[in-house]
Amino acid sequence: MRKVVVFVGWMSLLSVGLCSVEAKGEKKEKSSVKKEAFGKTEDGLAVERYTLTNAVGSTAKIITYGALLTELNVPDRDGKLGDVVLGFDNLKDYLAEHPYFGATVGRVANRIAKGTFTLEGKTYKLAINNPPNTLHGGQKGFDKVVWKAEPKATPDGPSLELSYVSKDGEEGYPGTLTAHVTYTLTNDNALRIDYTATTDKATPVNLTNHSYFNLAGTKTGDILDHELTVFATKYTPTDETLIPTGEIKPVQDTPFDFTKPRRIGERIDRLKGEPGGYDLNYVLTKDKKEPTLAARVSEPKSGRVMEVLTTEPGIQLYSGNFLDGKLKGRGDVVYKKHWGFCLEAQHFPDAVHHERFPTMILKPGETYKQTTIYAFKTK
Ligand code: BGC
Repeated sequence: MRKVVVFVGWMSLLSVGLCSVEAKGEKKEKSSVKKEAFGKTEDGLAVERYTLTNAVGSTAKIITYGALLTELNVPDRDGKLGDVVLGFDNLKDYLAEHPYFGATVGRVANRIAKGTFTLEGKTYKLAINNPPNTLHGGQKGFDKVVWKAEPKATPDGPSLELSYVSKDGEEGYPGTLTAHVTYTLTNDNALRIDYTATTDKATPVNLTNHSYFNLAGTKTGDILDHELTVFATKYTPTDETLIPTGEIKPVQDTPFDFTKPRRIGERIDRLKGEPGGYDLNYVLTKDKKEPTLAARVSEPKSGRVMEVLTTEPGIQLYSGNFLDGKLKGRGDVVYKKHWGFCLEAQHFPDAVHHERFPTMILKPGETYKQTTIYAFKTK
């Protein structure tokens, strides 16, 4: 019954354009999309912020710069809404350097060794923006471009589709790639992200979302007391520049083993090297067609639990190791080391150099598809 009412609300939203619509029905249910100006880029391009509000009052804020999630307010065990993703209040801070807070990352998320790869007999050169490698799409990746946005009707909750056409040769990659990212904030408090892409030349594609979560609320401290389970028994070891060696190793008897729930901080001191902390790709044991449970995180004080489901073969656990207290986020909060964690669903890093890794090459006529769901509950 509720679903039908919400859907009718959406139809009227579409017919009147972008304005807030209340779904009439039980309780105080509202499902809406609000659009507002969020400033201009240095090139004078207008950026908008969209607020998705679902039928139970949770909200997700997304800006068209970087198809980026700036804020996500979900209930704690007492029903109190709190923001669980790190971010800024204004465009200026997003335009300045930041570690991909909330961004859609592409054309190829994570690293490509030495910024070069060979495809169909041709060698391509990319920007070395994380010496000696390319990281997260290069100098001006998908996180630094303005996407076109369109709200969409869905019976599950408010939804926003963002689209971007990446030109042949952009950041050194072959082929014109048309990418779509759709955020849906479902009425049962899941943020579902669906990606699709098509190309006119063979090209590597690996899209993900780079949100930094803190389930206690972003103003509260580090995430070391969050309890994490990763449904993976293997990972891809890397060299000192975080490029996979090509091996696939068991997590058993290492600090990477989260097959049973453990505090993120429990064994973090055992990780060697600078800056210290988790930054690795897990090999998920799963059927790729349907989004499958990849990780669960619970935070004891707030009672919030987040489950991550994905169609991807891998997931990067990154424990905010490079946050160093230099960035001030929303509400003037200084983001220190381990203040947020990322769970980035993805193809394995540097897959272009490893035949044994699932391929990230998209060919003309094929459609790249990936779905990742961040589902929130309480306990
Ligand atoms: C990478 C880290 C990197 C971080 C911020 C993560 O996806 O795995 O190595 O520092 O993004 O750029």
